[in-house]
This record gives sequence, structure tokens and C-alpha cells, in this order.
Amino acid sequence: MAVSPIPFVDLAAQRRRLEGRIEAAVQRVVAGGAYIMGPEVAELERRMGEHSGVKHVVSCANGTQALELVLRAWGIGPGDAVFVPAFTFAATGEAPAWLGATPVFCDVEEQTFNLDPASLEVAIGHAERQGLRPRAVIPVDLFGVPADYQAIHAIARRHGLLVLQDAAQSYGAMRDGRRAGGHALAGATSFYPAKPLGCYGDGGAMLTDDDELAAKLRSLRFHGMGGGGQYDNVQVGTTGRLDTIQAAILLEKLAILDEEQAARQRVADRYEQGLSNLAATPRVPEGVASAWAQYTLRISDRDAVKAELAEAGIPTMVYYPKALADQAAFAGALTSPGGLEVSRRLTGEVLSLPIHPYLDEAAQDRVVDAVRTALLKRAG
Ligand SMILES: Cc1ncc(COP(=O)(O)O)c(C=O)c1O
Repeated sequence: MAVSPIPFVDLAAQRRRLEGRIEAAVQRVVAGGAYIMGPEVAELERRMGEHSGVKHVVSCANGTQALELVLRAWGIGPGDAVFVPAFTFAATGEAPAWLGATPVFCDVEEQTFNLDPASLEVAIGHAERQGLRPRAVIPVDLFGVPADYQAIHAIARRHGLLVLQDAAQSYGAMRDGRRAGGHALAGATSFYPAKPLGCYGDGGAMLTDDDELAAKLRSLRFHGMGGGGQYDNVQVGTTGRLDTIQAAILLEKLAILDEEQAARQRVADRYEQGLSNLAATPRVPEGVASAWAQYTLRISDRDAVKAELAEAGIPTMVYYPKALADQAAFAGALTSPGGLEVSRRLTGEVLSLPIHPYLDEAAQDRVVDAVRTALLKRAG
């Protein structure tokens, strides 16, 4: 008998929950006519500021642009080294490269998959010896777990590096009493539909407590607009605004985000209970509440297990099948002299299971049972 697959991410279930509210919000924008920088944009920024505890939230067109605009506001460009983890989505490396700066790939920690401070430390001297100016580091909160900012800040302070938190996967997560996006001088997040806080298209935001940086970012996303309004261009900027319709949708979704994250935590707890005696389950450090963008196991026979799970109707994903430094786009890239051993090993072992707030207990049990069956077969 064919088994019906369960969805990896179920945006339709969230839509059913918000049915009516989203349609009404979109309709208000359509009828109101303020399609660019309408009142919903400022309202979203204000509410995200309250939610995240960060003073300024500046929305923009997507998460990649959020990273780029912050680096650009800091004047980063050719000759500058920007340190990034090797085990991440393309955007983290693209942002510095797009500005003509040099991304320097560092290894990640075995336990959290996040930037390894020891790898960063040795990469800085290496970049200097190549004639580059070490300027910034972009720790990524991979799969929803904020990176080790205490350790990273200590190194950044010693070497004068600016720290930009890539919170594309972690919006809503907590570490040491602060929300993701607020652990560094600036944070960047993404509203890509499948993200913890996603819209119905592309969108992103930058977060900072720094008044001057926030003003610069607001100007950069709107063609370098100055105090004289839209046609007063005081710096070279871009079309980088979040659509009003997307802001209206995000306002509805932000209102239920904390509840959704509690539901994700319950799924993660049940997976942990059902799987931790058989599989390498995610390690969440003390003082951290993950946003659970992904729930990722490490499995030595990963590809075969993935195929078996697919047959049982359990979709899984491999984030990421290649270290970013090994992608053709970054051929010949500078890497930490400490090596990228962990990043490269993880690409062969990681397997992300379905996790979302609307995954009911029956579906969770199906996932756990199928994973256990596949792993027990190998253990025995
Ligand atoms: C770690 C990370 N950084 C940056 C981004 C870029 O976001 P966007 O797709 O909105 O450009 C993403 C997601 O897509 C991501 O996962």
C-alpha cells in the first residue's frame, strides 16, 4: 500500500490557521494603494524591534541583500577579508564577494555546526599574510542555533573585526537572554517563505542598536536617499525595500511566531526522546533556545538512509551537500589554515528531518519510527 508522504515544511497548514487574516491584510494594502513603504512596513519594523529587543529593524528586499547592505554600510570592499563559516548557505559567502571583498572560509564546530572560534583566530593572521585587511566576520546561526558570540566577540575585539550576525535561520531564537539578531553590532535575517519567520516571496531585515548604522541602512535600501527625500541621493544605494504586501503578511505571522516556536520545540523534544539513543541528534548549548529552522541528524550511511526514508514517505533534506568553499563559485577561495575538516565531513553525514509547527504527533511518530527502523537495521 502506498504511504502518503508527509510535507517537509507545511506552509499550507499555517495558511489555514491564518485564513482570512492574511487575505484581509493583503486586501487592505491593495485597496490602500501604498505599495512601496506603506504604513505596514514601519509597523513591522517597530513590532520586530519590540520582539527582538533590538533598537532598529530595517527591512529590505531579501536576506542576502541584508548582509550586503550592512557590509556596504561599513565600507567593506576590495582588499578586505571577511571571515565566514565554510558550512553555510551560499549567501554568507556571496555578500562579501559581491562587494569585491575576500571571503575567508573557516571551519565549524563539531557540536553546533557553527563557526569555530579557533579556526577564525588562525584565519585572521593568514589573511593578513596574504596582504588583506581583516575587517569583519559573519557568524551564521545555522539551523536556528545562535553561534558562540562570546568567544567570537573576544577574538573580534582583539583584531578590530566588525561582527555581523547571519540570523537568516534563527530569527526568534535566544542565547544568553538575547534574541537572535541582537548578538552583534548588526544582524541580518531572511523572510524566505520556509524560514522561521517567512513571507510569501522574498524579504529580509537588518537589525542594529547603532543609530548611525540604522540611518545609513535606511538610506542605502532606498537609492541612498538623504534628508531631502526620495530625489535627494546622498550615497549610491539600491532598490532594496520590502514590499508593503509582504510586510502586511509578516505582521500576521509575527503575531503567532512565539507560539509556533514553542510547537517546533515540542517536535524537537519528541525527536530527541525517540532518536537520541540511536542517532547523533542536534546539540543545543546551555542558555540557547533554538529557532529549530532545521532538525539535523548526523548519520554515517546517510544517502542510503535518506533513500529508505523517502520510500516510507518521509522527506528529508541535505543541508548542505558541499562546503561553500568547495563550490565552483568560490574555487580557489582563501580558507583557514586550520583546515575545513569538520565542514567537509558534515556534508557527507547531515540529514534534516521534517520540522514545523503543524507537524502533529502521529506524523512525528511516523518520522521517528522510520528513522529508528533504518538505523536499527544498520546497528544490528
Ligand atoms: C544562512 C543564510 N544566510 C542568508 C540567507 C539568504 O536569505 P535570502 O534567501 O532571503 O536571500 C539564507 C537563506 O536563504 C540563509 O540560510
